[in-house]
Amino acid sequence: MIQANPETQSVTAAGSDAVVVTSFEDGLSPAAQEVDRALDGLLTEMRDAKELTGRFADRPVVHTLGRLPAKRVMVLGLGKPGQLDTYRLHNAFWFAGSALRKQGARSISAYLDDAVVAAIAGRNGEGDAAFFDTVHSVVTGLALGNYRSPRDKREEEDNGRSIERIALGGLDGHPGMEDALRQALVLAEATNTVRGWVATPGNLLTPTLFAQRAQKLYEGTGLEVEVLDRAALEREKAGALLGVARGSDEPPVMIAVRWDGGRPDGPRLALVGKGITFDTGGISIKPSAGMEAMKDDMGGGAAVLAAMWAIAQLKPRANVIGVVPSTENMPGGRAYKPGDVLTSMSGRTIEVLNTDAEGRIILADGLEWARRMGATHLVDVATLTGAMVVALGHVNTGMFTNDEDFAALLMRAARRGGDRFAPLPIHPEYEVLHSDVADIKNIAGRQAGSITAALFLREFAGDLPWVHLDIAGTAWNDQGDLTTVPKGPSGTPVRSFVHLAFEFARL
Ligand code: BES
Ligand code: MN
Ligand code: ZN
Repeated sequence: MIQANPETQSVTAAGSDAVVVTSFEDGLSPAAQEVDRALDGLLTEMRDAKELTGRFADRPVVHTLGRLPAKRVMVLGLGKPGQLDTYRLHNAFWFAGSALRKQGARSISAYLDDAVVAAIAGRNGEGDAAFFDTVHSVVTGLALGNYRSPRDKREEEDNGRSIERIALGGLDGHPGMEDALRQALVLAEATNTVRGWVATPGNLLTPTLFAQRAQKLYEGTGLEVEVLDRAALEREKAGALLGVARGSDEPPVMIAVRWDGGRPDGPRLALVGKGITFDTGGISIKPSAGMEAMKDDMGGGAAVLAAMWAIAQLKPRANVIGVVPSTENMPGGRAYKPGDVLTSMSGRTIEVLNTDAEGRIILADGLEWARRMGATHLVDVATLTGAMVVALGHVNTGMFTNDEDFAALLMRAARRGGDRFAPLPIHPEYEVLHSDVADIKNIAGRQAGSITAALFLREFAGDLPWVHLDIAGTAWNDQGDLTTVPKGPSGTPVRSFVHLAFEFARL
């Protein structure tokens, strides 16, 4: 685990392998100006030559040739202050951490200043929140640089390099600094856990192995875990999850975790995550090209399980449960078929018209199990619809709700956690899931596919406040490094879930 501490040395005395200073488009930060003076105006010269722009995620690295104790200085662009939020700040430092780790930096000192905190405060509110959010964004971003995809062949070339120490300078004397750093390391660890699970090939992360990994992670945390196996699921009449699982030889599970941090009679937040460890589409099989990407179809479940771990570390005074229905979606000889009618755990019947719309089906039983565990508020998260990728790309998670107040709480958690949630409507005009043979059918026409999926889930939330998050686009950036979004798995929305637990503690 990485260490993080306040940097007590000035930027020209810091002994770390690398130093990161920042620049907005309109000029170098105070720490960058100090570096500039120590290097006889090198940074000014680069600015004049437009080799250093301060544009968002611009990140030239200069060698200090012994003029400073740190071997390298990165000048990280933060763009326009008016556009800076935790999402951008986190992503900028994520790029920085990845680049510096690959260059061999084991220790990094990053220097901020009040202008950065002020920019965050412009969105997240003045006071302590902006300070904490700033520290979290920077330190989690840098620490994400330590992530390597499982079985990474370059690991040996990299000589197993990793970041061991992060020091944060320029925000001296804030009494919350130690707490903020400690929290940030937990949030970063949780994020990298999600990323690792999401990137693990389907044969190495079956539902059974997924449950085992979670149980291992929870050892010694005081979290109560229950893993419902096939027999237990049959006893509970989880006909939706069992129906999807029929096509696979791998047994399904329902993973349920509880954190009882609040009053026993207080509200209880449930996080319900889709745990499809591989999605072939089933009998409504997907095309071969690109199907390998469907190993990430448990990204929602991974975010839920890792958030529960982080919650047990940071101990909010809230009651939180995590529920992850998990199975493969396979076209085996006993697979469920178009036209089948499944009876879900809630007793509601589902007409299956497309076996590739399996996420909403297993979540029906996940939501019902959360209700039975005493949930008063429901959040589900899923890589649910390809239509979401088309609509919002890799930047925004689609957010759907039956309760605007509860959605506002999630939105606040996302602003703090460094995620982008975009609200989308579920007007009654979209209700097209009527079935002649069951209570509901699992697909509608081609239009508004993400919205009709949300409407399906809403039926299983019943009368509880509910928010649905569709992370199909945001769980994984497969477009390579975009200017502002690093490639690969993001871990979203695990940090926002931890913030939500703290917001929820105030209810
Ligand atoms: N896991 C997929 C959704 C998905 C697609 C996530 C692409 C990430 C990238 C989901 O189970 C699925 O197959 N959805 C179908 C639903 C359709 C059959 C109504 C889809 O979006 O095509
Ligand atoms: Mn599918
Ligand atoms: Zn799926």
